[in-house]
Amino acid sequence: MTDVGGARATTSSRRAPRLFTLDTVMVDLVLVIDWLPSRGGDAVASRHLVSAGGGFNVMSAAARQGMSVVYAGQVGTGPFAHIIHEALAREGVATPVAADGEHDAGLCVVMVDREGERTFATAPGAETLLQRDALDRLDVVAGDYVFLSGYSLVYDCIGTSVIQWLENLDDDVIVSFDPGPRVDDIRASWRAAVLERTDWLLANADEARAIAHRATLDEALVVLSRVTGRRGVVVHDGRAGCVVAMRGAASRRVAAFPGEVVDTNGVGDVHDGVFLAALADGADPETAARWANAAASIAISRLGPSTGPTREEIRALVTR
Ligand SMILES: Nc1ncnc2c1ncn2[C@@H]1O[C@H](COP(=O)(O)OP(=O)(O)OP(=O)(O)O)[C@@H](O)[C@H]1O
Ligand SMILES: [Mg+2]
Repeated sequence: MTDVGGARATTSSRRAPRLFTLDTVMVDLVLVIDWLPSRGGDAVASRHLVSAGGGFNVMSAAARQGMSVVYAGQVGTGPFAHIIHEALAREGVATPVAADGEHDAGLCVVMVDREGERTFATAPGAETLLQRDALDRLDVVAGDYVFLSGYSLVYDCIGTSVIQWLENLDDDVIVSFDPGPRVDDIRASWRAAVLERTDWLLANADEARAIAHRATLDEALVVLSRVTGRRGVVVHDGRAGCVVAMRGAASRRVAAFPGEVVDTNGVGDVHDGVFLAALADGADPETAARWANAAASIAISRLGPSTGPTREEIRALVTR
């Protein structure tokens, strides 16, 4: 079934790699308003939608490439958890971790104003209460992929579980980490531990500079190559595409696919999911990044969450 890369079917008969995602999944309640209400005020939304959010975007993007995807987090029980279970089932994502019977999934109120700025208010839920033994029961094997985000590490319970689990993870499991905007909220010792175990760091330029404490991306990549990215680093760079810095090699820019920008929400997640799925399919990192750029440009031309394209839609764009 290889496609992007074409290598795997001929080199191995082992089960295709799976993507185990530990980014937290919660419900997004998106309100499109003119301006944020003043304190004590009320704003009327011109549009609203309710959907699974957070790590769901990465998983749906990868699943639409034909990759086998597992949500390794905890969903919960209640009306929000119901929305998440339905969304994961629709995308064919496996959910081996038993539901927390006491807590519902969390909720994020996302207010989008007329300038496109997003403001969040978050109520954490069952996704932050993941226990270590649930992770130990996962059948992750060498060659599988793990996706972590900064949100996996900003909450005490899930953070402790993830860090302890990573310490004992088979060295041949490929760990990817997208720190996201809350990178500074991760405990220093956890941050160091996850960076050290990370095979692929997936970050935007601001995040890369913040982790490295450097002013320019070039300087940041030099520092990052010493502390993370056992295989490499991918830096998302908006309309300038992305930069792929493979371990021991010069960094290469991979151009974006220009197009209409309608909604950039979750575009970094789509990039991550498609990049990992393409790697798992045997593509080299630059080709995988090109597919991810193409997928991201399609996603931002569409309104709404989880707008990652299928493999066929991406192929049509990259071979145009
Ligand atoms: N205006 C654009 N035109 C074409 N492609 C774009 C544009 N903006 C983003 N992309 C594509 O989307 C990818 C990810 O976008 P971006 O650099 O904004 O990541 P990010 O900051 O990690 O996103 P997020 O805020 O969703 O985490 C880019 O690497 C690029 O391929
Ligand atoms: Mg991002």
